[in-house]
Amino acid sequence: MLGNFSYCNPTKLYFGEGAVKYLNDELPKYGKNVVLIYGGGSIKKNGIYDEVVKILGENGKNVAEIAGVMPNPTLEKLYEGMQIARAAKADFLLAVGGGSVCDYAKALSVSVHCEQDPWEKYYLRFEEPSCETLPVGCVLTMVGTGSEMNAGAVITNHKAKLKIGHVFADEKIMPRFSVLDPKYTLTLPHYQMVAGIYDIFNHICEQYFSGEDDNTSDYIAEGLMRSLIHSSRIANKDMQDYEARSNIMWTATWALNTLISRGKSTDWEVHMLGQAVGAHTDATHGMTLAAVSSAYYRHIMPYGLKKFARFAQNVWGVDPSGKTERETAEAGLAAMEDWMKELGLVMRISELGVKEDMIEGIADSTLIMEGGYKVLDRAEVVEILKESM
Ligand code: NZQ
Ligand code: ZN
Repeated sequence: MLGNFSYCNPTKLYFGEGAVKYLNDELPKYGKNVVLIYGGGSIKKNGIYDEVVKILGENGKNVAEIAGVMPNPTLEKLYEGMQIARAAKADFLLAVGGGSVCDYAKALSVSVHCEQDPWEKYYLRFEEPSCETLPVGCVLTMVGTGSEMNAGAVITNHKAKLKIGHVFADEKIMPRFSVLDPKYTLTLPHYQMVAGIYDIFNHICEQYFSGEDDNTSDYIAEGLMRSLIHSSRIANKDMQDYEARSNIMWTATWALNTLISRGKSTDWEVHMLGQAVGAHTDATHGMTLAAVSSAYYRHIMPYGLKKFARFAQNVWGVDPSGKTERETAEAGLAAMEDWMKELGLVMRISELGVKEDMIEGIADSTLIMEGGYKVLDRAEVVEILKESM
């Protein structure tokens, strides 16, 4: 391991069936005025809303609500929430939902008392908050993003055709606590479950496919990937398998809570491509990643051959005997693609609504990262997008 780092993750987790009761331990730590934030209504159908509202009532909280936080939360929705939170004199933000709701709560946390425009400050200039921020707690209902234990908040600006994530440096933007009850995820549709599984897998890949040094993080990453592949196959056959779903939930958290990026460089180009596709189509996050991954990884493989051959052996169990390093690496990517197809992931951006005449615009929205095995130029971005059609 060659890099220097600091590590602090202050989010307290309550994991397991019935863990929502620990809201009773957490809520008394914060002020009376709570803003309850949720999505399009799944929590009302599956009963999670009633459970949470009951506990808020028992703890004597004044509750204002921000409902209808959409997948890929928008800047307009953020402005709307800022008004609601200000009017409610919010002391605490409670997010009940998936990554979109948790991300939104963090974006709101840094925006409610911000006197500047949050889009310009946090998403264009990538500044840290210079105002008071509100504490956030999460009750997670969809697994994938890791938002429950990180300081990331992705916001979509449809007018600018940009979807940008800001990972705040200050750990007080991380949720103060998160409730992770695997049972809460059992009502997810199959499409969302597998999109989340690929999001987890790709978070690990983004941190794994970078750097040449020998480091502990890569060994942890391989273990997480193996656990995820194993549990995903069980959950894909039986979505109600609690053991598999709980392992997937725990893996998601560790895949993106800053641990496996310590001491090493990281890539994140698949996310930049996926987010650009998302900005133009509003497609499901995990599916945008799946649809660009094959073309991207095949494109960069020659520049990181050693790591791709290691991935093939340590993650996919490819036997290298009688193969060149390149053949081993290729067999690993083929195994990954077979698994993705087995799960039923979207493998083409055309299936997400991308048309040929949108490619140039999507390339314009794609940020270029510098930590991967190949720093892409614009022509390569276009080539990868075309290969993903
Ligand atoms: O809105 P409702 O009705 O709740 O329905 C949601 C939504 O339609 C539904 N859902 C959630 N829990 C459910 C459920 N349906 C039935 N039963 C349940 N228990 O699932 C749909 C998707 O939810 P969403 O929160 O959008 O999914 P996800 O968790 O994948 O979050 C995606 C957002 O997170 C960002 C993405 O860019 C995207 O905006 N990301 C955040 C990251 C971070 N904070 O570090 C990193 C990721 O790479 C990602 O970029
Ligand atoms: Zn992601």
